Amino acid sequence: MTDILPPTPEAIAEAARHILDGGLVAFPTETVYGLGADATNDEAVAAVFAAKDRPAFNPLIVHFAEAAGVADVAPLDGRAAELAGAFWPGALTLVLPRRDPCPVSLLASAGLDTVAVRIPHHRAAHDLLAAAGRPVAAPSANPSGRASPTPAAHVAETLGAAVSVIIDGGPCRVGLESTVIYPSGTSPRLLRPGGIPAEDIEAVVGPLARPDPGAAPASPGMGSRHYAPGRPLRMNALSAGAGEALLAFGPDAPEGAPNLSPTGNLEEAAANFFAMIRALDTANNRGIAVMPIPESGLGRAINDRLRRAANA
Ligand code: TXA
Ligand code: MG
Repeated sequence: MTDILPPTPEAIAEAARHILDGGLVAFPTETVYGLGADATNDEAVAAVFAAKDRPAFNPLIVHFAEAAGVADVAPLDGRAAELAGAFWPGALTLVLPRRDPCPVSLLASAGLDTVAVRIPHHRAAHDLLAAAGRPVAAPSANPSGRASPTPAAHVAETLGAAVSVIIDGGPCRVGLESTVIYPSGTSPRLLRPGGIPAEDIEAVVGPLARPDPGAAPASPGMGSRHYAPGRPLRMNALSAGAGEALLAFGPDAPEGAPNLSPTGNLEEAAANFFAMIRALDTANNRGIAVMPIPESGLGRAINDRLRRAANA
């Protein structure tokens, strides 16, 4: 039986106990729901990979209540410190060199010499991380290859059997996963577009090296098959073809189709994205046709997820 609990102090304390006991807990962040485990416990981290059926070469993001906690696992200096100062707590993940020794399970890093770290902004996430007092490894709380959950109910539907507690913080405000940055090297690198627009990050650290869609993935989880709905998806569609359902965007959309944002607001579109894709993926249609989304701001991250889904 999975308990779906509102984020009361009692529920947070219960969830923190589960994490310290090596269990798995789903919790809200401002981006998407996470499937959390004690990042210092190899078996708990292994249980996360098993629950998601996630390939073990795809490393996990490690979450902390405060930026100060990061220092134990990785140095936070130079560009990384600038980015942390500008965007934490928030939808930014930094890939940093692991300290040696490092308390975070090497499995969470998938054997790499780097560790991805993030300080979420969501109050319930913060309180849970503070109560656990440990780094918490948390991928998005969906089976590998499926859409990330933005309400708690979607976690319960697909991963309910694996988690004993789901903290229900309501729908996620941002709705897309965090932006992943590798800040070291000659120029900082965008590993995954996400909830903080690349333009905002470039305003702080200058031009980002972008992922090359044709190249081998710099971030193991960025393989083009990473995320896909169960039926074919077509981008830049102006209308639905035979057997397709239309996912609309903007004011010029046909009446009646689900619309990511009738006003053309990319933040609203991001917040609606996964839940709407998911609804169309369980509806009575053979394919999904998505109207054009502008390639700017959060539109880049939405188009990135759509390209992945279209290529699968
Ligand atoms: O918003 C988010 O980032 C959510 C919430 C729960 O924090 N988490 C999330 O985790 O989306 P996940 O596991 O679904 O995606 C993590 C991404 C993957 O693309 C993974 O390959 C990349 O981060 N990543 C993790 N550690 C890395 C590392 N050491 N080097 C390069 N990429 C890494
Ligand atoms: Mg994910």
